[in-house]
Amino acid sequence: MSKVEFLQSVPIFSDLSDETLKKIAEKMVSRSYDKGQMILLEDAAGETFFVMTSGSVKVTRLSDDGREVILAILGEGDFFGEMSLLDGEGRSANIVSIDESEVLTLTRADFLEIMETFPKIAISFLEELARRLRKSDQQIESLSLADADKRIGMVLVRLAEELGTIKQGNVTIKNFPYQQDIANMAGTSRETVSRTLSVLEGNGYMARKAKTLTIYNFDFFQKHFS
Ligand code: CMP
Repeated sequence: MSKVEFLQSVPIFSDLSDETLKKIAEKMVSRSYDKGQMILLEDAAGETFFVMTSGSVKVTRLSDDGREVILAILGEGDFFGEMSLLDGEGRSANIVSIDESEVLTLTRADFLEIMETFPKIAISFLEELARRLRKSDQQIESLSLADADKRIGMVLVRLAEELGTIKQGNVTIKNFPYQQDIANMAGTSRETVSRTLSVLEGNGYMARKAKTLTIYNFDFFQKHFS
């Protein structure tokens, strides 16, 4: 797939003409990362913007006692690295590659120029930043209010919405994250995640096969956990 074809499929760019996408694509450089590789380090100066073409990454911070807290998992078509370019502060979080990942990058100067030249992109960014803020608000609420089983259920709903595909009411998440990563999103232990997933599976809410997780009757599941 060419860079332009790929950009056509990315929500923040999809409204732009092919000619505009071609100009943007010419400025983009491809990079790839190994599984587990650190892509961005919290507090480092921000010079680059990233759009993911394949793979998945986690957005993390370290708690005071050294535990990894996962703020979000991003996949194909998602972007990251915009915050420090916009506010001039250091990177707000670490970005770590979960699988082998490929990205297209823009320099800070090109990113800012594109935002100024194409207001449609700026508006799409604001929409996505609003969505992320909403999710963070929900995550804060869930971490402070709910018990561990409920927090894990809420993380599953979020992953299903972000990474899953729905078919006949069931959601399938391919490349389901590691149990430790689910635990670090839900603020609990890997053992609790393992137990909760087994109970949910035993009760017929979901099924796992290798790295694929299917949630049955997602509507019901979502209502149950939100
Ligand atoms: P930046 O601060 O430049 O580098 C880290 C990136 O992580 C940040 O830009 C965002 O792109 C991304 N990021 C930070 N917080 C979140 C979040 N809560 N949800 C999704 N992405 C985030």
